[in-house]
Amino acid sequence: MAMPSLLTFFSLLVASALAADPDMLQDICVADLDSATTAAVEVNGFACKPAAEVTEADFFFQGLAKPGATNTTMGSLVTAANVEKIPGLNTLGVSMSRVDYAPGGLNPPHTHPRATEIVFVLDGTLDVGFITTANKLITKTITKGDVFVFPRGLVHFQKNNGDVPAAALAAFNSQLPGTQSIAATLFAATPPVPDIVLSKAFQIGTREVKKIKGRLAPKK
Ligand code: GLV
Ligand code: MN
Repeated sequence: MAMPSLLTFFSLLVASALAADPDMLQDICVADLDSATTAAVEVNGFACKPAAEVTEADFFFQGLAKPGATNTTMGSLVTAANVEKIPGLNTLGVSMSRVDYAPGGLNPPHTHPRATEIVFVLDGTLDVGFITTANKLITKTITKGDVFVFPRGLVHFQKNNGDVPAAALAAFNSQLPGTQSIAATLFAATPPVPDIVLSKAFQIGTREVKKIKGRLAPKK
């Protein structure tokens, strides 16, 4: 490979490793949501739909207006407002979600590989935290009107220890932050992570590994 192209390659690599979503190249690029499945190259983004077909509906979403149903295993529900729901977000580098928590509900430890998250408590009180790569837990009890930040890529959680429901709005600096839920990633992957890997990593027996896998298996 000639020197200039090697340099270009490394600059691109460094830029893509350090940057959040890339900057937009035009005013709007409303997602043609079918383009991800039909395009030859898959990237975190969509081709633009023809400008003549763009309407206000591409920039509008009512899905965060009402509380989500929290009768889930964890007692919480995340409702996303990302590019998959709002095609007009394509290339804009932002998105939101609403999280509802039943009393005692937990949004379990997870990471967003592509975004920093900032939450605003709409209702109730939450015990929140994230863990740095130095394994330091940064934790705080936050309440209605408070804001808290979870830096990009760091494992974080929220728990409603109150006896009334709680709700929060989250904003992200990515149109599609991605979510990896730690327990589900390790114990409910397809195909499964080998029992022996989990047994050694967590210093537990394979019987306990199978028990956890059984409990976290997606409901059919
Ligand atoms: C909360 O952590 C969320 O990802 O919505
Ligand atoms: Mn999160």
